[in-house]
Amino acid sequence: MRLTAFAPGSVGNVGPGLDVLGLAVAGAGDWVTAELLDVRGIELRDPGHPDLPADPARHSAALAAAAVLQRAGAHRGLALWVLKGLPLSGGQGGSAASAVAGAVAANECLGRPLGVRALLESCLEAETAVAGRHADNLAPSLLGGIVLVRSVDPPDVVTLPTPAGLTVVLAQPDQRMRTADARAALPASVTRDVAIHQMAQVAAMVAALYSGDLALLGRALDDRIAEPARAPLLPGFVAAKRAALDAGALGASISGSGPTAFALASSKGAATRIGAAMVAAYAAAGIECVVRTGPVDSVGARLVAEPGTFE
Ligand code: HSE
Repeated sequence: MRLTAFAPGSVGNVGPGLDVLGLAVAGAGDWVTAELLDVRGIELRDPGHPDLPADPARHSAALAAAAVLQRAGAHRGLALWVLKGLPLSGGQGGSAASAVAGAVAANECLGRPLGVRALLESCLEAETAVAGRHADNLAPSLLGGIVLVRSVDPPDVVTLPTPAGLTVVLAQPDQRMRTADARAALPASVTRDVAIHQMAQVAAMVAALYSGDLALLGRALDDRIAEPARAPLLPGFVAAKRAALDAGALGASISGSGPTAFALASSKGAATRIGAAMVAAYAAAGIECVVRTGPVDSVGARLVAEPGTFE
């Protein structure tokens, strides 16, 4: 029994929704192939990248698969092969996508003993170990769409509507940012003014997604907690965000913990123009940048015919 699961990358936070809003982006993700073994434990046959740990106790896909085995009470083990489509330490939900694909592949190999909530809990164990306890990348990668994480303990997630035409621009500068380091930069506390502003923006984003009011979505994409703390660690970001807004982006911010910057656009054509403007801004700062654009991935994790394919 051998099968492969794919999980898409994602934008964590989506601006003001630090640790509570995330969206899956169509077009890139990670694949995990799993094969049932008669012996217990996880054998990580391919970690997916030379810079990723070969030790299953430190790799997000293996940790999530192990958590599935444990929750399912399985007396078997799994061999795993990881194929990374997402950048390492890129801010595109790579560790979450590996965890989700690992958990889904493991669950399917066992005959699907776990439901969505237990799968999410398994993935959270992995994400907690490698990147910190948050589910704003895991939930959209697993479920697809735009997701609000109301609570992680216990997991309680709400899928929000995706307005027609909404297109995501991801501008990935030639930098790496470890999630743990970016989380260390976050303030331990914020003033009441900031807390109130941030609550209002997240609420406005939810309202905008339900009503399809893209102008409101753009106005609400105003993060006063993570972005001010992390922008100084990300050379070129401020100019790239300015360029995105000048080129017609609804809003822009840091994708997850960075270094990828993201912008939201109202159409594919607008997204292409915004992406080009962000590349030019990074280039002016002497920083190479790769851009991709895509709609929100509405499917989330799924089984695919083989690694590298999307169906
Ligand atoms: N919500 C997380 C953070 C996402 O901002 O630290 C990490 O990708």
